[in-house]
Amino acid sequence: MRARAGLLTVPPVRWAPLPVERVERERAMPYFPLASRRPVRDVPFVPTPQEVVDDMLRAARLRETDVLFDLGCGDGRIVITAARSFGVRSVGIDIDPERIKSCEKNAIEAGVVERVRFEQQDLFAADLREATVVTLYLLPWVNLGLRPKLLKELRPGSRIISHAFSMKEWLPDRLLRVMNRKKVLYCWTIPANVQGRWNCTLRLDDGRCREAVLEFEQEYQTVIGTCRAMGRDMTLERVRLVGPELCFTLPEHRPGTSPVTYQCRVEDGTLRGSGRLAEGRVMELGLRARRSI
Ligand SMILES: C[S@@+](CC[C@H](N)C(=O)[O-])C[C@H]1O[C@@H](n2cnc3c(N)ncnc32)[C@H](O)[C@@H]1O
Repeated sequence: MRARAGLLTVPPVRWAPLPVERVERERAMPYFPLASRRPVRDVPFVPTPQEVVDDMLRAARLRETDVLFDLGCGDGRIVITAARSFGVRSVGIDIDPERIKSCEKNAIEAGVVERVRFEQQDLFAADLREATVVTLYLLPWVNLGLRPKLLKELRPGSRIISHAFSMKEWLPDRLLRVMNRKKVLYCWTIPANVQGRWNCTLRLDDGRCREAVLEFEQEYQTVIGTCRAMGRDMTLERVRLVGPELCFTLPEHRPGTSPVTYQCRVEDGTLRGSGRLAEGRVMELGLRARRSI
């Protein structure tokens, strides 16, 4: 359909997104086109403008101990800037041998060879367990194909920054507009898995320890939960999960008692933390829980 001049603007031709189910189905078939055409680029080389690279790395809140992976690293600019300006170890993965050659040349010129590594391989086959930050400038269906791998291999608290493309129903924690609002960055933190039931000992506002059962339902970083204690079921309020940090408020369990806000850390199937009373009464109240299912 042609737009009438002056009334509508026709959107430019874009890459037509493949439905993610089709990509996943094709990848599972040993000889099907996507698999048998390997090595094949899922995305063409289009470099991120340097100004946006700087914004992506600032958005990642890099610390010296971080290890950054750029999946589909192109000419290596994200990897090299992370090493040069933020001092972090960085790894670039690209399927195209020409790109890897140019990355290596650029890293020598930038004087960062000891802090960077480039690997020619398919990003879907890369081992991401070492990464604490992953940067992406791919395409929508490639992000979606990568989503289960990122959630499986990255540790809770790892950050993902994607230039331009989302992960569909996995909503970002932050959305940033950069380069005079012309570009969008999507930022996620890998959430810990808290889904299920936890047997728990917690101290309430009267200072006494109680046995309780916490139960959480989780979709990505969105969590709802209940607490069963003293024969009562209570809905947890203001539940927030950021990486391995889980925070929630236990409402007053009977009239006259205080709500308690617990700040916990999820690690190796345990939940540990402490609670504080609302309205300024400071009282440290311990919480320990172990997963039961
Ligand atoms: C849009 S460019 C992004 C380059 C760089 N990350 C940046 O932001 O400047 C995408 C890159 O992904 C690479 N690529 C495409 N499909 C790939 C795959 N399956 N595995 C690894 N790299 C891939 C391409 O060769 C290209 O260099």
